[in-house]
Amino acid sequence: MNREIQKSIDAARAKLDELTKREELDKVYLEIFGKSGLFTNLTKLIPSLPKEKKPVFGKDLNEAKKQIEELFSSKKLELISSSEEKTVDISAPAKKARIGHLHLVSQAIEEITGIFNKLGFSLKSYPEIDWDYFAFEALNMPKDHPARDDWETFFISAKPDPKMGKQVLTPHTSNGQVREMLRAKNPPIRMLNIARCYRRQIDVSHTPMFHQFEGLLVDKNVSISQLKGTFDFFTTRFFGKERVTRLRPHHFRFTEPSFEVDVTCGVCLGKGCRLCKSGWLELGGAGMVHPNVLKAGKIDPEKYSGFAFGWGIERTIAMKTNVPDIRLLYQNDLRFNEQF
Ligand code: FA5
Repeated sequence: MNREIQKSIDAARAKLDELTKREELDKVYLEIFGKSGLFTNLTKLIPSLPKEKKPVFGKDLNEAKKQIEELFSSKKLELISSSEEKTVDISAPAKKARIGHLHLVSQAIEEITGIFNKLGFSLKSYPEIDWDYFAFEALNMPKDHPARDDWETFFISAKPDPKMGKQVLTPHTSNGQVREMLRAKNPPIRMLNIARCYRRQIDVSHTPMFHQFEGLLVDKNVSISQLKGTFDFFTTRFFGKERVTRLRPHHFRFTEPSFEVDVTCGVCLGKGCRLCKSGWLELGGAGMVHPNVLKAGKIDPEKYSGFAFGWGIERTIAMKTNVPDIRLLYQNDLRFNEQF
């Protein structure tokens, strides 16, 4: 190759080697290929060459140009990929957007509300911090009555009210019963109260904060068969047609007679297994509203009767999904939450 051309190639190569910034590329390009750049100056030499050397010089010049252009392109790529500026592959498939969903407890609240709405129960709400009166006394549990111990209550250390007593974090949704009777004034009443409750308890089937759903129906001639029919309606819709309910005698101060309501186990369907032992799982409490509670709500027990029930949402979920420990519902572990 012609010496002049070889020198120019070496000079261009050296310039490209020294390049470290992408912004300097255009400047160097002009110095090599521009109007008064290296190759233009070499081309200008052709007319002064002897005739026989002209074709060889022209051929060498083209060859050199090709080499430097290739060098330039690879340097350009090297600088682009090492800088932050990345090329975007617009043909690559898009990343899928992660769409969340309601927490299992919220899903259950929506489903339960829908089922009871069909029977005419409408959702109401009452204070989350309420008076001792509505949580206990109006429910036929006078001050210092031992039955109150079952509710392992959190009390608020504010000054008690002379008539209403202390304030409590509601230990159950039954505080809504007398409040609803006083609010509605006249039956019929079909109340659904779904709310947070608090108790000093924690183990596989107890959390200090949990949810209950409470139903209250007051009307003329209300009977236990209507109460049982309501539970059967709920159970088949929420748990499935193969599950059935039973009433077991129990005692609550605010219902008479009182029951525990059981549902057949979802694993063995009533045969008895390691999970349930007896074939049945406890759903919650229920009963016919006690006359003293109707009186506290200014309703005449001679004219009206009613039933009430209060069940735990977390336990209900565990009975449907076979979650072995309800504390899992509040650990915010996505590996658990995303399964539902
Ligand atoms: C009551 O709370 C009554 N108020 C229910 C009732 C209402 C009876 C109306 C009659 C008429 P009990 O303490 O059994 O009853 O609680 C009812 C349900 O709440 C339990 O069966 C359970 O499902 C749920 N529950 C109670 N404590 C907890 C807790 N710490 N964690 C999770 N769930 C709980």
